[in-house]
Amino acid sequence: MQDYTPQSSCSPFTGFLRRGYLQSLPSDERQRNAKLPVHDRALLLHGCKRNEVLSLSEIEQYGLDSFGNADCVSINGMPPREWYGCGIRLLGRTAVECTRDALGDRIGRDVASVARRMPSDRLVVIDPFAGSCNTLFWILRHLRNSEGIAFESDPQVFGLTHRNLAMLGQRIELINGDYERLLEGYSFPQDRGVVTFVAPPWGTALDDVQGLDLNRTTPPINRGYRASCAAIFPAQDALRDTSL
Ligand SMILES: C[S@@+](CC[C@H](N)C(=O)[O-])C[C@H]1O[C@@H](n2cnc3c(N)ncnc32)[C@H](O)[C@@H]1O
Repeated sequence: MQDYTPQSSCSPFTGFLRRGYLQSLPSDERQRNAKLPVHDRALLLHGCKRNEVLSLSEIEQYGLDSFGNADCVSINGMPPREWYGCGIRLLGRTAVECTRDALGDRIGRDVASVARRMPSDRLVVIDPFAGSCNTLFWILRHLRNSEGIAFESDPQVFGLTHRNLAMLGQRIELINGDYERLLEGYSFPQDRGVVTFVAPPWGTALDDVQGLDLNRTTPPINRGYRASCAAIFPAQDALRDTSL
């Protein structure tokens, strides 16, 4: 099995001491953590941590530095200390990109409230942009009678998520590759309702003032995914437009 021990290639710079957090750490961890750079979106998503497996202290540091909460990156119904202890690991990019538990739960409830109006209660939930699979985890929690299929094109993200799902005993069919190419090969019995949850990488689509532009995500959602779905599932009860 691949070794996912976190290894840092970032050069630490001092000056960002987080006194409260540091004081809560055992003394031997304090010195090491005092030298950590600020763990924000820039470092984890676009910087040298993007494709690195994070240590527990880095995950907690990201929560603290970015949201004032060391438990911020709660996924699979667990705070970081707990899921890390179960062997779950995340890349820097996925720690930022994942839907965290509080939002995942709300999305799951929202989807379930709309799904109740669908004729079939046997549903297939498709996530074309799997990442950590935490969004799908929560949707499936709220749609008990459903199966989940997810696609992940990044081999490193796929490898970790695949391994994490196995650790959790979570039944999700996770496929490595581009959803656009692979989804075409799927067909489902006519009596199944299809739910798709779409969360592509935002890239430069998020503007502080204008908000999120779905024509500028990577890939653009308004043009690409809607068209693919309509072509692939013409006869299915497709649930597409639900938002929080
Ligand atoms: C914003 S993240 C999804 C986060 C996810 N909802 C979660 O809870 O972790 C988007 C993911 O989609 C993957 N991705 C991007 N383009 C893709 C494509 N064409 N097919 C499959 N996966 C893709 C990226 O590698 C990234 O891991």
